[in-house]
Amino acid sequence: MTSILTKTSEMNNYNVEEIRKDFPIFKQKIYGKPLTFLDSGASAQKPQQVLDVIQKIYAEEYANIHRGVYYLSQVATQKYEDARAKVQTFINAKSAHEIIFVRGATEAINLVAQSWGRKYLGNGDEIILSQMEHHSNIVPWQMVRDEKDIVIKVAPIDDKANFLFDEFEKLLSEKVKLVAITHISNSLGTITPLKKIIEAAHKVGAKVLVDGCQAVPHMRVDMQDLDADFYVFSGHKLYGPTGVGILYAKEELLNAMPPYQGGGDMIRSVTFEKTTYNDLPHKFEAGTPHIVGGIALGAAIDYVENLGFHHIGQHEDDILCYAREKIREVKGLRLISQADHMAGIISFTMDLAHPHDIGTILDQEGIAIRTGHHCAQPVMDFFDIPSTARLSLGLYNTKQDIDRLIEGLHKVNRIFS
Ligand code: ALA
Repeated sequence: MTSILTKTSEMNNYNVEEIRKDFPIFKQKIYGKPLTFLDSGASAQKPQQVLDVIQKIYAEEYANIHRGVYYLSQVATQKYEDARAKVQTFINAKSAHEIIFVRGATEAINLVAQSWGRKYLGNGDEIILSQMEHHSNIVPWQMVRDEKDIVIKVAPIDDKANFLFDEFEKLLSEKVKLVAITHISNSLGTITPLKKIIEAAHKVGAKVLVDGCQAVPHMRVDMQDLDADFYVFSGHKLYGPTGVGILYAKEELLNAMPPYQGGGDMIRSVTFEKTTYNDLPHKFEAGTPHIVGGIALGAAIDYVENLGFHHIGQHEDDILCYAREKIREVKGLRLISQADHMAGIISFTMDLAHPHDIGTILDQEGIAIRTGHHCAQPVMDFFDIPSTARLSLGLYNTKQDIDRLIEGLHKVNRIFS
């Protein structure tokens, strides 16, 4: 970790070539070509520092947590709880009790929908989603709607993929009990004006749930500053392992919510007549958790904190600006992502080739992008397209990656013309 500091923050100089050496995946060639990985929005690659922690725990420190009086269990428990505290500091939550380890952002949203939503929504209450939501922030609310008398309204975007704040405000009324919204759209890269959204929602008494999956790897998020009621993200997009994610919620909300799943750590006492539940955060962590995943997420947070978010954000913004300029050189390319405030992601289509063909031809060049609807079919419907090709950036991307992509897109045109 010290080496990373010298590589970056201390020198105030983001040395991406040095940083890339932390990621073993880049040592290999794909079809004999260097790997150009432009799909970190789907899942980010892992630095050796995170891989080492995973290996060490399983090999030397592994035991179940919160259960054993013996040494290994105590060590593992301490490390897991230390990781929770790291997440708390990372997002500036008031208390570690507000940090719930879950399987990922999807589980976090389902937890809120099934626990808070089923208990507190009904009687014609309204929920506002945005046109840009990922399916994971739509379907859990539809599942509540199928059971309860609630109405889902959709805050619109314009044809450049800007979030229309004024239109959103018009949807607000005292009937609105929840605004469930992305921080950065996974299909478009649009950054929503979150502080304004939260302030406006709170004025009418609505709670706000934020899908922070694409934001947390790119920018500093501060729960006390944002004042979100619920904020969710996945570990695997933050250079950590799959199968672990975070639900942040204000403590008073978590205390007022019924448990989501029963069993294991969420229990204080059980008889056949009555069960009492554990305190926060354990009340929402049923069963043996992803122990190693939680600890490794802590290591991933150490990694990005050592690089410095300011530097990561600035570097990715530079690459994004470069990509936005260069991509215009490609003939017949339609930019779908054109919002005024964007981060990390560009979606596009090409006149001559279907996104799937674009992805397949790029793959032959060792270039990984995502193609399809990106689990955001309402976005595709809005733009009247079946799918897009999407590049998404990580802290390890370079201008050379973008140059290779552009060359690959020219090749797509050559093949299909
Ligand atoms: N939600 C992830 C993506 O945007 C998987 O690709």
